[in-house]
Amino acid sequence: MKIFVDTAKIEEIKQVKEWGILEGVTTNPTLLSQTGKPWKEAVLEILREIPDKPVSLEVIATDFEGMVREAQELAKLGENVVIKIPFTPEGIKAVKALTAEGIKTNVTLVFSPLQALVAGKIGATYVSPFIGRIDDISYDGLSVLEEIVHLYETYGIETEIIAASIRHVDHVRKCALLGVDIITIPFTVIKQMLYHPLTEIGLKRFLEDAKKANISIL
Ligand code: G3P
Repeated sequence: MKIFVDTAKIEEIKQVKEWGILEGVTTNPTLLSQTGKPWKEAVLEILREIPDKPVSLEVIATDFEGMVREAQELAKLGENVVIKIPFTPEGIKAVKALTAEGIKTNVTLVFSPLQALVAGKIGATYVSPFIGRIDDISYDGLSVLEEIVHLYETYGIETEIIAASIRHVDHVRKCALLGVDIITIPFTVIKQMLYHPLTEIGLKRFLEDAKKANISIL
């Protein structure tokens, strides 16, 4: 399971890269608005930072032609650009057209197994089911994800599943157990994954004992 970071903030991307676990970035207009920078400046900074890993950038047009034109412009920004297209009737038409042009796509705002099945049929590179937002409406995001994984395995669909809208570390654990291809995680949740209270307590004890035993390696 690859780890992407769900952010447009360059400091967060740099930090995850330094930890050695960054395999891609996903953004959306909300995340770009949180950078406080002009959108293009923020995007170019990200593309410079990771020129060799997929970076999802979302269109804002909602009609077929507008989405295709925006996607073509965004794709010019870097070879690693993946175009995020919302799952709508116009969106799926655009994904089909962009796939035919060799432009990579990430079908976003996916909330049901049938939407995911359609995304696979039209040749999307990635599909992004939004787990947390399904939980928000008192349904079970992970059970939707489980059905998507099952359908993709049953029908040999090659579109890669990006588990998105991740809210806490247990989402990460369960997505990993379900066998998704990729999970895109907010920076705060990645930080939580790297911390365990028993590790902290254990380390404190080892250091105290090292002092008692006069261990000094260098
Ligand atoms: O990539 C976008 C998706 O992860 C949205 O997350 O937290 O806004 O539901 P959230």
